[in-house]
Amino acid sequence: MTAIHIQGLGTYVPTKRITNVDLMSLVDTNDEWIVSRTGIKARHMLADDENGSDAGTEAALKALEDAGIAAEDITHVLTATCTPDYLCPSTACIISGKIGSHGAMAFDLNAACTGFVYGLDVANSILAGKPGAKVLLVGSEAFTRRLNWEDRTTCILFGDGAAAAVLTNGEAGTPKRCLPSAPRLRDVRCGADGRQYPLLTVGGGTNRNYKPGDPVQDDFYLQMQGREVFKQAVRSLSAVCSELLEDNGLTLEDIDLFIPHQANLRIIEAVGDRLKLGSEKIFVNLDEYGNTSAASIPLGIGDACAQGRIRPGSRVLLSAFGGGFTWGAALLEF
Ligand code: COA
Repeated sequence: MTAIHIQGLGTYVPTKRITNVDLMSLVDTNDEWIVSRTGIKARHMLADDENGSDAGTEAALKALEDAGIAAEDITHVLTATCTPDYLCPSTACIISGKIGSHGAMAFDLNAACTGFVYGLDVANSILAGKPGAKVLLVGSEAFTRRLNWEDRTTCILFGDGAAAAVLTNGEAGTPKRCLPSAPRLRDVRCGADGRQYPLLTVGGGTNRNYKPGDPVQDDFYLQMQGREVFKQAVRSLSAVCSELLEDNGLTLEDIDLFIPHQANLRIIEAVGDRLKLGSEKIFVNLDEYGNTSAASIPLGIGDACAQGRIRPGSRVLLSAFGGGFTWGAALLEF
């Protein structure tokens, strides 16, 4: 019998905060446009000497503390990121080394903004096959490093951040600090459709044939056809939620809180309309962070817990969408 639980959670947001007004000194934009088109008011940025692995390490240490589990007892470190410090070594290896989970299997997975939900699916499989395992799943992004600060259509949207979860098969007591109880991962599903991958890309770490001394090319930066991505996001997020609920014999009435990927408030509202879900059941924190990609869903869980919107007994629906395109949804029962 497998009963996968999130035994602890931790979050980390860099101190440096960039408001919409701050962005006006970089590109031709304004607070009113950004808020009305996206809902975003601020985003956080890593310090110059800080990397995605540092943010992930901070989040991981807090998650271990919440779980009451020692780093040396972790058997697997997974990092969901599409802005790794290096292509090799993985950010997961760097985090593992920094926290002291030596000997644990460590690797990155890249499913863009759906990375954390993909990670839940992978952790679920690991724990089903190895019930004694203890999986540390980190979502960590350094997206501000991959933004073209001259492109007003993309640089307003993203921010940096990290969050981590410790997963076990079976419950190991009450979490110490962040989660009100250890939620069971009731179900998770993920998918992808690579046919439209050029609509959202982050290049530069590819095997493109750069020559020594070449300046950084445009494809180093995130590039996106925003309108098309918007439409696909609404369709995929709604569809995967409906499928997951139906397969579990549930309706939206049974859901206490929906935590969607925090990319754009208008996408979230359109998904809420499609699902016929009242705004009081939808969690939003993108006003403060922007889109933190693979960190977005676990940052949402952490903030929702801190605000008392998740309690023991809550049934929480998670759903994400990202470049690839990728999508996924998961059901947590606290
Ligand atoms: N400030 C001011 N004006 C801006 C602007 C900015 N930051 N960015 C674009 N504009 C302008 C455009 O140049 C355009 O001007 P024009 O009509 O004179 O050509 C106008 O605003 C409308 O641009 P458009 O791209 O049609 O706006 P939009 O309503 O589609 O919103 C996005 C743009 C990017 C906010 C929206 O498409 C979006 O959020 N897409 C999804 C992106 C996303 O979340 N991706 C990640 C998914 S995981």
